[in-house]
Amino acid sequence: MNHYSRRGGFPNPTLELSPMIPDWLPYLLNGILLLAIASIIYYGIRLGITPMPSSRKAVATFLNLIPDATDGKIVDLGSGWGTLAYPIAKQFPGAEVVGCELSPIPWLYSRVKGVFVRRPNLTLRRQSVFDADLSSVDVVVVYLHPAAMRKLGPKFERELLPGTLVLSNTFPVPTWEPAQTIHLGKSWLSTSNDIYVYHV
Ligand SMILES: C[S@@+](CC[C@H](N)C(=O)[O-])C[C@H]1O[C@@H](n2cnc3c(N)ncnc32)[C@H](O)[C@@H]1O
Repeated sequence: MNHYSRRGGFPNPTLELSPMIPDWLPYLLNGILLLAIASIIYYGIRLGITPMPSSRKAVATFLNLIPDATDGKIVDLGSGWGTLAYPIAKQFPGAEVVGCELSPIPWLYSRVKGVFVRRPNLTLRRQSVFDADLSSVDVVVVYLHPAAMRKLGPKFERELLPGTLVLSNTFPVPTWEPAQTIHLGKSWLSTSNDIYVYHV
């Protein structure tokens, strides 16, 4: 009698796997998934923005706008999943790249990614962008929201040294005149996308 006829039909995969998978494991995994989703939603509401990554086009534009010889400090304010910070750290191995992110799940993801994608020049801090020390920074990259940009303007004016390059995705620094605005056009998730370039 073969395997199928003994059971009167197709084998039940749950029964076949049950000796290996404890009953409580699916509940634990579901619980972790729900907590992760709840955390992303909670921090999205609290911080005023979801961890929406920069588009590929935006990442490529940021990389083109940062001068080749940059070997100082580059800060990503609100580094999310590391979508921007990792390519920057790769392209500028001589620079010290720092990302600040408060939302625990994207931050944790970006840290775990570092186990597989080694970037010794990249530090990802669980820190508010408003607590980041910007006094010795050469380049700031940022993709936040209008209220955060309003609050960051005075911080930039207090802390950034003359000559610092500031690149902002989608939302401008409201009181500043950009040296350049790059139109990226529509992406599948947004109506239009601009990158604002400022020289302090
Ligand atoms: C639109 S995402 C951009 C992510 C990444 N910089 C990129 O371009 O792909 C903005 C990120 O900023 C984070 N964020 C918002 N306010 C923050 C704050 N006050 N301190 C730290 N991170 C913040 C959000 O959690 C989110 O992950």
